Amino acid sequence: MNLTKNAILFTLLLLVFGCQPDPKEKIQAVNYAEELHSYARPNTSAIKHLNLDIDVDFNSEIIKGIATYSIENQNATEIILDTKFLEIDAVEADGKPTTFKLGEFDEQLGQSLTIAITNATKSISINYRTTNKTEALQWLSPQQTADKTHPFLFTQGQAILTRTWIPIQDSPQIRITYDAKVKVPKELMAVMSAENPKTKTADGSYSFKMKQPISPYLIALAVGDFEYKAVSDRTGVYAEKSLIDKARYEFEDMEKMVLAAENLYGDYDWDQFDVIVLPPSFPFGGMENPRLTFATPTIIAGDKSLTSLIAHELAHSWSGNLVTNATWNDFWLNEGFTVYFEIRIMEAVYGKDRANMIALIGRQDLSDEIENFKNEPNRTKLRQDLKGKSPDDAMNSIAYDKGYLFLRTLEETVGRDKFDAFLKNYFKTHAFSTITTEKFLSYLNEHLLEPNNITFNTEEWIYKSGIPSNQASITSDKFANAEKVLQQFLESDTIDTSLTKDWTTLEWVHFIRNFPKTMTTEDMARIDKAFDLSNATNSHIAMVWFEQALNLDYHGNNVDQNIEDFLIRVGRRWYVNTLFKAFKRNGKTEEALAIYKKSRENYHSVTATTIDELLGVKN
Ligand code: BES
Ligand code: ZN
Repeated sequence: MNLTKNAILFTLLLLVFGCQPDPKEKIQAVNYAEELHSYARPNTSAIKHLNLDIDVDFNSEIIKGIATYSIENQNATEIILDTKFLEIDAVEADGKPTTFKLGEFDEQLGQSLTIAITNATKSISINYRTTNKTEALQWLSPQQTADKTHPFLFTQGQAILTRTWIPIQDSPQIRITYDAKVKVPKELMAVMSAENPKTKTADGSYSFKMKQPISPYLIALAVGDFEYKAVSDRTGVYAEKSLIDKARYEFEDMEKMVLAAENLYGDYDWDQFDVIVLPPSFPFGGMENPRLTFATPTIIAGDKSLTSLIAHELAHSWSGNLVTNATWNDFWLNEGFTVYFEIRIMEAVYGKDRANMIALIGRQDLSDEIENFKNEPNRTKLRQDLKGKSPDDAMNSIAYDKGYLFLRTLEETVGRDKFDAFLKNYFKTHAFSTITTEKFLSYLNEHLLEPNNITFNTEEWIYKSGIPSNQASITSDKFANAEKVLQQFLESDTIDTSLTKDWTTLEWVHFIRNFPKTMTTEDMARIDKAFDLSNATNSHIAMVWFEQALNLDYHGNNVDQNIEDFLIRVGRRWYVNTLFKAFKRNGKTEEALAIYKKSRENYHSVTATTIDELLGVKN
């Protein structure tokens, strides 16, 4: 009943200190944009540095320890943090017990944690533990890993999940540096979005330091039995033993990518760029945790064909981690710029053909998304209004691919040289700060459009639904050829396999995604017989083929079993969601539910939440 007692004490304190002038009137040091997804009021008191001291217990599946913050206090008598599903055991201010209060629970935002402080308070520490409801953490059994010998843990902070494993001011407008001491079982290694160890310690104690200020959604931790192999002086991979050599080979071009990126938009500011290959339940393709990108193993295809994802996460080292969306309404500033930058890196390293194919795949995703949202046109605006909504609602092709198309159109309008110079300056000027859509808009006018006397319908692109008519047109001879080959296959009885022998993954994906609705199961069977697509080992090819098998009611070549196995093994939300949506769209919800019953326990909360909603499952 500690909590009630604290609540009473807290009210008393408020009465005593409550007659001071409203701190908000006094100081407006930083101009924070309106924040819909955090209880924090950083204008009055903000965290600056985190010192985390935690114990990772695989038996109870709980992280417990102390989060100590140095704070900047503008005369406030309280500091407010975000928490969700955390137990708060005790709180201190400058080393002495202080009172605290947990606010009402909100399904999305969790609970505010209000801590009593004084003018003079320099630091607060919170003794806390996670619970089994935590949404950021996924605890995996040995069976769910590649080597199957040790358990594994990873965190996923973006967008608002960091508060489920650390009490924190969980807004992208907050920037903090951090140190951490993490204790794990001694057979395991721990890595974070920070300076990392390259080998295991003898006792399972690890120390970390992130010296550049980052937003809370970028704090990340992974614990498991993995090892490190360098690719270059400043790039490398962490993976489980059975995957490490494959991973190193797959990501061999990492240094080339970093060099290409630096050449475009300025120095890489984070010293090290490593990738950790996580177990297949990782809910994303990749996550740009600073210094250490978290990645799905499904991009290890054996032929480096899916590594644009690495270029994407690397690009976030500028767009996202250096210059951060101020709120989740501005999410397109993170992702649209990153897709643009990703495709520029891919062009620099592999040439225009590959870059344009990637851009066209995204262009088709964008058309599909606009069709999806035909009854909710507001959702096709770049700048979103997420009041009362989850940041997840903005995580769709609009932010990514409409954002890309806008920037590409802008590039083609002003010319590449001017555009590149502008972007380089944009990153430099806003490094280690956050940016709203409005601020970007005025920066764009002032530094690119006005000086060059260019009129551009920027506001239409950003604030209106749909796609403006001045959109850049993207073409690819290779894709045009893939479409021609498809026609040929459909019009004749035989299949000339020599026509596809030089195809890359992207051509296969395009070919499969463009099957006409009138295609018959016999056509599917013929193509499958020639290319064995139902057993494709490339995850992207498999995913789009499975989707077509569901669309066209094709059941040959063991495809049904392979779809089920894929959905049980892989938790990458984009893949899983695409396939379950295809089941549903094609009147196969019962089958979907039967598979989901078996697969759900393998999914991270991010994926499970999406699929629960899609299939109407209550939990
Ligand atoms: N930062 C995102 C992942 C993300 C976005 C997580 C929003 C949580 C909330 C990451 O950079 C990303 O975009 N991943 C994509 C990669 C792809 C576009 C190359 C993915 O996971 O599919
Ligand atoms: Zn991204």
